[in-house]
Amino acid sequence: MVGEKSQWGRPLMDWTAKIYRNCLAYGDDLPFAAGKADGSYATNGKGHWTDGFWPGLILLAYADTRDPALLASYERYVPFLEERAANDAERNRANGCLPLDHDVGFIFHFTAVYHWMLTGSEASKRTGLQAAQVLLDRFHERGEFLRAWNDWEGDSPDFREEKKGKAIVDSLMNVPLLFWAHRVTGEARYRDAAERHVRRLRGLIVRDDGSTHHTFNFNPETGEPIGGKSVQGYADESCWSRGHAWAIYGFALAGRYTGDRQTLLAARKCAAYWLGSLLPDGDAPWDFAAPRNERLPIDTSAMAVACCGLLELAARLPDDAAALRQGAERLASRLTGAHAAPPFPRAGAFVLHGCSGPAYKKGSREEASGQYRNADQPLIFGDYYAYEALLRLQRGSLMLPMGFDGS
Ligand code: GLY
Repeated sequence: MVGEKSQWGRPLMDWTAKIYRNCLAYGDDLPFAAGKADGSYATNGKGHWTDGFWPGLILLAYADTRDPALLASYERYVPFLEERAANDAERNRANGCLPLDHDVGFIFHFTAVYHWMLTGSEASKRTGLQAAQVLLDRFHERGEFLRAWNDWEGDSPDFREEKKGKAIVDSLMNVPLLFWAHRVTGEARYRDAAERHVRRLRGLIVRDDGSTHHTFNFNPETGEPIGGKSVQGYADESCWSRGHAWAIYGFALAGRYTGDRQTLLAARKCAAYWLGSLLPDGDAPWDFAAPRNERLPIDTSAMAVACCGLLELAARLPDDAAALRQGAERLASRLTGAHAAPPFPRAGAFVLHGCSGPAYKKGSREEASGQYRNADQPLIFGDYYAYEALLRLQRGSLMLPMGFDGS
């Protein structure tokens, strides 16, 4: 590796060393998305929306180092990913895997697509295209949105009904899979669905003040917009910080693929809200509307995602680049400083203090008692985006042969 002199070089080297050690520790298993407060992960993680992050981390390290040992470690997951993309109901049940939903981009973009970019593997290209088809099949023609979730065990009848017409801010991170599929096949249907979805969310999920709804409901029959709702956040009218980070980064990536100025401006509006809403020490609360007291949980995974989003946007908007980059560097300093996990072998994780889901709902018993849930955890997706952020800061790119998004 070259050029390790900046302040990001040292943590990047430390985290790459952890990737080598974790390859040995995890074998063919996947870390469970949310780890323990001490920075360790259980290794029973397969079957969720997070399946792509650990293999994706190995691929990012391979892209940077070109060490064949890392490629071999990644390729141990190829059969699992191929089977996952087939989305066979019986195999999903037998393997304890949730059926695929809009989150296919999180599973297959950093794995199958990057593997194809790095090696030209036709099998991984097929896997990526299979996943893109799963996403395309979720497009609601009249409503012009990609449907977010499937039914889950234990859903109430009302929630099942609501989910037939629900879009979610996170999905902005999955549309690059459709833009990629358009580029490799030349088939306009992928690009058209992606562009229509991004336009729809741009108009509905971003509020006037630059904050975002977590999800947005539509009439499942007519596609008429109904209104915003929050599942992960503090309240329907609140702004869940990780969802908001998905919006910054997702709009910025869509802007990269389309060159559309309105989409880049939506990302900028979300970025301005983010930068103006952080805590005095530069951290992101788990929800921007949650009351600010000394026990307020933060979410470092949101900070890592936003860091990448601000850097991506800085590359697209030269007039705003200095302020956006400064905001990103402040986040990266917190992730590699105050929130860094202890060194291996004490911790496999890179970053502590994530919040995997709602910590408490407005007016709930948990809020009143301070018995918060889902807080103070390392998160495998937080680690993924923190590592990506360091690569962007240290190298200026993700070292993928065709540009990190296949452009
Ligand atoms: N995409 C799910 C989450 O951010 O929790």
